Amino acid sequence: MAPLVPRMHVFEIADFPWFPNFLRAYFQAALTAAWTTHVPILQSSSPASLVAGLLTTHLGDNRTETNIHDYVFIDFCAGGGGPTPSIERHVNIDQQRENIELPEPVQFVLTDLHPHVELWSQAATQSPNLSYVRESVDASRAPRDLTARYTRQGKKKVFRLFNLAFHHFDDALARRILRDTVEGSHGFG
Ligand SMILES: C[S@@+](CC[C@H](N)C(=O)[O-])C[C@H]1O[C@@H](n2cnc3c(N)ncnc32)[C@H](O)[C@@H]1O
Repeated sequence: MAPLVPRMHVFEIADFPWFPNFLRAYFQAALTAAWTTHVPILQSSSPASLVAGLLTTHLGDNRTETNIHDYVFIDFCAGGGGPTPSIERHVNIDQQRENIELPEPVQFVLTDLHPHVELWSQAATQSPNLSYVRESVDASRAPRDLTARYTRQGKKKVFRLFNLAFHHFDDALARRILRDTVEGSHGFG
């Protein structure tokens, strides 16, 4: 069914290839701060911790048969890290705090069309469960070797994370990303 109001696809200046990378890094760092800041009274917790709670609630924790530990989370538009390093801590550390017996920590991987390796490497030093891909990764053409690394021998399922990102894609690109996700039978959120 055709939408009542046609979708308006505008642009963000930092998406242009000519936009200086050092300015893009500032822009991304500001977004990461917005994800991870908790404003008392106004917010019950930071947006990143709310996302971690949603993922655990919907995928299940170690008390359910299929659960969040079946997945590896690949952030396909990680920017400066966004909420993912914080989600990782909440998912892995909060369950430990609640004395839920963990099979193994849940792994998170940062990727982007414009990789922010410096910011990601700093974040990765804080957790052994956070890694990143140095090379540019296009979300619409997820490298098979990246996803297969985790799905080989039915080891893990891939969950593709898109935090504050899907509005960047026009309809054709969004379709390609969704098709690529469905073809790999990956989770998506
Ligand atoms: C608004 S930023 C969000 C960054 C981060 N997820 C956050 O929430 O702070 C959107 C990101 O999408 C990335 N991006 C845009 N098109 C992409 C594509 N085709 N493949 C991978 N990343 C893409 C941009 O480089 C940018 O880092």
